[in-house]
Amino acid sequence: MSEEHTRILVVGGAGGVGKGSHLPAIASLPAIDLAGVVDVSDEALRAVSEEYGCPVYMDLQTALDSVDVDVVDICSPDFAHAEQALQAARSGKHVLCEKPLALTIEDALAIREAARASKVKVMVAQVMRYQSRWRSLQRAVAEGRVGSPVFGRFTMRGAFFSYPANSFYRTPESLGEIVHNGMHYFDTLAWILGTRPAWVSAEALEHYPLDDRLPGPNYWNIQVGFESGALGHIEANLALDQPRGVRAEQACFIVGTQGTISSDGADAAIVEQWDGQYSWPASWPSGVVQSFADEIEDFVAAVRQDGPPSVGLDWSIRILEACLACLEAVRERRRVDLVYPEAADRNVSELAEMEED
Ligand SMILES: NC(=O)c1ccc[n+]([C@@H]2O[C@H](COP(=O)([O-])OP(=O)(O)OC[C@H]3O[C@@H](n4cnc5c(N)ncnc54)[C@H](O)[C@@H]3O)[C@@H](O)[C@H]2O)c1
Repeated sequence: MSEEHTRILVVGGAGGVGKGSHLPAIASLPAIDLAGVVDVSDEALRAVSEEYGCPVYMDLQTALDSVDVDVVDICSPDFAHAEQALQAARSGKHVLCEKPLALTIEDALAIREAARASKVKVMVAQVMRYQSRWRSLQRAVAEGRVGSPVFGRFTMRGAFFSYPANSFYRTPESLGEIVHNGMHYFDTLAWILGTRPAWVSAEALEHYPLDDRLPGPNYWNIQVGFESGALGHIEANLALDQPRGVRAEQACFIVGTQGTISSDGADAAIVEQWDGQYSWPASWPSGVVQSFADEIEDFVAAVRQDGPPSVGLDWSIRILEACLACLEAVRERRRVDLVYPEAADRNVSELAEMEED
């Protein structure tokens, strides 16, 4: 890593979120250089090379052997994440990985071990943490505006996600909506509440009004208990017949010991304190590419300052476990306790410190 610049290699960088969000985000950050792009699509790579003038590779190892890289940013499909994160960590590169980090707990724990052995940082790219509406909500709760949070609800409804027939995500191997996107719902709600999920129970429904949906349930009704004792409810409803392109509605509602706070999609959350006061916390800058740029810059700052990444790896392993547990809860019709990486009754700052050790 040079004095002032950090070099990022983007894997799967010629695809939707890579080319659409990560590459323009990196281009907008003056202290971050695009070291190259890896992708399996020759044609898509040519377009990236023309637009960004960077080296392109069809194989991660060839790229790692050819260019100086500080951070590997993984934007490939879910099934490729674990192997590529392991390869990058074992090569001594820091890793920013699109969600989900892996498709099994075993793979996630192997990444954790490799990161510890190579002394590199791994962060799951939970971009919702960098979006203004969720940030303002999390800030207000962390500042104690509603006292101690005791209940949180996150709802997502919309036919926003459309997957073409040849997409990996439509094959039987895909773990479906609750692992592919459930990471967002669990991570956001737990982050706002400031505590990890401890157990889940879930009901789910398969209903296919359109032909572009993921296999498995597309309506989820999830109860979640948190280590703090707070209770949560997550409703993920993709069982809707809406025209393509209609934006998903996402909302979050938190009840604390001294008030409530909610955001229904506006940039600033509304706080209602029980003394009858209403307020609107200051908003953060918004915009899709901007939130990816903030996320990448934040991870690079942790790398450069050798500090803990904002999204802890142990935290993300617990979030992955919660998503996988929803599948088990539905299959076995029971509540599932969460235990990974280790059962610990600790608050978020203690966990961040532990992760640094
Ligand atoms: N955080 C977010 O808001 C967000 C949004 C969209 C997607 N995602 C995540 O990003 C990842 C990519 O999603 P997408 O929608 O961009 O998919 P995509 O299919 O549009 O793009 C994936 C790209 O990876 C390439 N690829 C496939 N296999 C590869 C391999 N083994 N090595 C390198 N490249 C490979 C493909 O050619 C394609 O260019 C997924 O894990 C998804 O969950 C996150």
